[in-house]
Amino acid sequence: MNKNILLCVSGGIAVYKAVALVSKLSQAGANVKVVMTASARQFVNPLSFQVMSKNDVYFDTFDEKDSRVIAHIDLADWADLILVAPATANIIGKLANGIADDMITTTLLATTAPVWIAPAMNVHMYDHPAVKRNLDRLSADGYQFIEPSEGFLACGYVGKGRLEEPEKITALVQDFFSGKTKPLAGQTVLVIAGALQVPVDEQHMISPQANGQIGHALADEAKRLGAHVIEIENSNLYDVIQQLEAYKIQYPQAFFIYAANVPTIEKTPIVSVEGMKAVTFGQQVQGKPMFNILSDSWIDFSDQAQLNGQFLATSNPQFFAQTLWSHIIKDEAQ
Ligand SMILES: Cc1cc2nc3c(=O)[nH]c(=O)nc-3n(C[C@H](O)[C@H](O)[C@H](O)COP(=O)(O)O)c2cc1C
Repeated sequence: MNKNILLCVSGGIAVYKAVALVSKLSQAGANVKVVMTASARQFVNPLSFQVMSKNDVYFDTFDEKDSRVIAHIDLADWADLILVAPATANIIGKLANGIADDMITTTLLATTAPVWIAPAMNVHMYDHPAVKRNLDRLSADGYQFIEPSEGFLACGYVGKGRLEEPEKITALVQDFFSGKTKPLAGQTVLVIAGALQVPVDEQHMISPQANGQIGHALADEAKRLGAHVIEIENSNLYDVIQQLEAYKIQYPQAFFIYAANVPTIEKTPIVSVEGMKAVTFGQQVQGKPMFNILSDSWIDFSDQAQLNGQFLATSNPQFFAQTLWSHIIKDEAQ
């Protein structure tokens, strides 16, 4: 795995496990660099990370070691993947709110690499509505999570909040980069599912019927195939159009699965798939999709769909998703 992994370490009791993570990632062939918060340095001396990674450890945004570059931009560009492990409630809150007041958060805002967040904290902290809200926000922003595991926590409680074991995190990273077993490894897939709303006046929205099952199945299958998946559901169409333009810049190579039903009223704005590898389901769009899949009624309620004149069963969404992704991957390889 000759990949550049930037490990961002924030200040929780699990910092000691991050040292083992650097070791496992290095043994797996990754080039690892470490950034620490001031709190993380209360738990483990940066020297441990320096020795394990055989690289300088970064913690001060204004410590510019190389005058030819700006360190946080250089690190943000260097990384093929960024892990935030352990991720404290504090760093999660800062990132969810776009705060960039230390080396980690500044680097995270400057990167276009995929970012995986591994929360680790007391079980009540993890369940706190503010933490949940911040995690939901980060998920909508396209961040992926390495869920904490259940077990004995250092605070004396038993529950969800333990940082996942370094071996497991390393295996996830290896899977992510191993193109052989996972055909969508390293790819970003953006899925819009469910029913999109369009405002008709200041108090009312109009929205068609859709249950999002085809979109979810396509997102789940993309994850299984190794993709970094961003899923947006039941949103306002104007917000979706705005988000889509931002994602086009952030992930220019992304697949866009437009599996959301849109109202067919006058003045419904039209989504542009220009420059994207898009799959549409009969919606009117600007630009040419890679595939346009047609069905008698909205895809979520249909028994079959037509792809380039060929009929595919949709009654089993999971099977449909597997078939469709194999078409997409084949077409992409040609
Ligand atoms: C002994 C001890 C253990 C802590 N463990 C955690 C933890 O596991 N998770 C967490 O979110 N915060 C934990 N904290 C609190 C954070 O260190 C604190 O919120 C700090 O401001 C986080 O800063 P940072 O996010 O910049 O690293 C712990 C604090 C102490 C003193």
